[in-house]
Amino acid sequence: MGQQKVVLAYSGGLDTSVAIRWLEENFDAEVYALTLDLGQGKDVEEVRKKALSIGAKEALVFDAREEFLSDYVLPALWAQAIYEDRYPLATALSRPLIAKYLVKVAEEKGATMIAHGCTGKGNDQVRIEVSVMALNPNLQVIAPARQWGWSREEEIEYAHANGIPVPTTLEQPYSIDQNIWGRSIECGILEDPLIEPPEEVFEWTKDPKSAPSEPTYLEIGFEEGVPRLLGGKYYSLLSLVEELNRVGGENGFGRVDHVENRLVGIKSREIYECPAALILMEAYRDLQNLVLPREVIHFKPHLEEEYAQLVYEGLWYSPLREALDAFMKSFLSRMTGIVRIKLYKGSMQVVGRKSEYSLYDWGLATYDRGDLFDHRASEGFIKIWGLPTRVQASLEKRKSL
Ligand code: ARG
Repeated sequence: MGQQKVVLAYSGGLDTSVAIRWLEENFDAEVYALTLDLGQGKDVEEVRKKALSIGAKEALVFDAREEFLSDYVLPALWAQAIYEDRYPLATALSRPLIAKYLVKVAEEKGATMIAHGCTGKGNDQVRIEVSVMALNPNLQVIAPARQWGWSREEEIEYAHANGIPVPTTLEQPYSIDQNIWGRSIECGILEDPLIEPPEEVFEWTKDPKSAPSEPTYLEIGFEEGVPRLLGGKYYSLLSLVEELNRVGGENGFGRVDHVENRLVGIKSREIYECPAALILMEAYRDLQNLVLPREVIHFKPHLEEEYAQLVYEGLWYSPLREALDAFMKSFLSRMTGIVRIKLYKGSMQVVGRKSEYSLYDWGLATYDRGDLFDHRASEGFIKIWGLPTRVQASLEKRKSL
């Protein structure tokens, strides 16, 4: 029998670099390093070479940005998936996609194991492992960083001893994860929830203080729920999201400071930069308000909350998510229209909207002469709507309750 094979989710950072050697040593395994380009802003070709130089048997790189946007981010947009009212789930959405590729490559290469660099304290270990389980329950999962039990110093010592390059950026005290949907920063001084994040943690967003002194207006065009146009011009989803990140960040918009409830039971303080995600979420919400009936507007948020929680908690590949998707998608045929956004010194507002499916009826809404609403019909309406209140109040009066 040949050597065992393990597919490792490889970022190019210290933990997963050390993991290549550690897996070879401890499992006598051939390591297949897998890296996805999700818009994390790293040269994935460099990452690939690094994996090989450390000793990976093969290093595979896939550009998964389009797939990430169309199959993970769009459904989350339709579901208005924002965890605890703050976090648009950039990291959480990427994990099931990484898991999908891990499983795919494992099956292609005949590997029996997959590995990842997550620690034992975060959400990502859960998301990756539960997703892998859902896609192929026979694969064994190894989490080196959870197993080796080293301090940072010991890990660096191991790296030096094994000729694994230790990046000088290690001096920076932050732990960062980013993709096209957002950037997350934790650790260091940020672990004191009272302290305002220092400017240095922000990379995508300008200090609102130094943002342009004139507002920037954007017009986002949706077609059946998909944001396709900016200022009347067609964009690929990828370039549209990139452009919104750029313009939003330029105007100092997109920062989030969140004391968050992790799945493993601890609260953590997270800083996010996610201009495009927040702009698109708000624009989509606004278009919904224009075209969807009241009952839907009032009911949908209950399912949105479920959806966000499920994504956060690693249950992407689940019957519940598919069922919720079906609900969210049922409205898409009406989600066509434009939304105008105003960005100004760290703020973002919707300032206009329009759709051929609009339920807004000027004749009914206006207080002008064109008013078509039957004011007198309200009299009878209130009588019946208020009937239970009247009965209740009469009883209370009679019984002096
Ligand atoms: N708290 C977020 C989540 O659980 C982001 C974690 C990303 N990791 C990081 N090292 N910043 O989805």
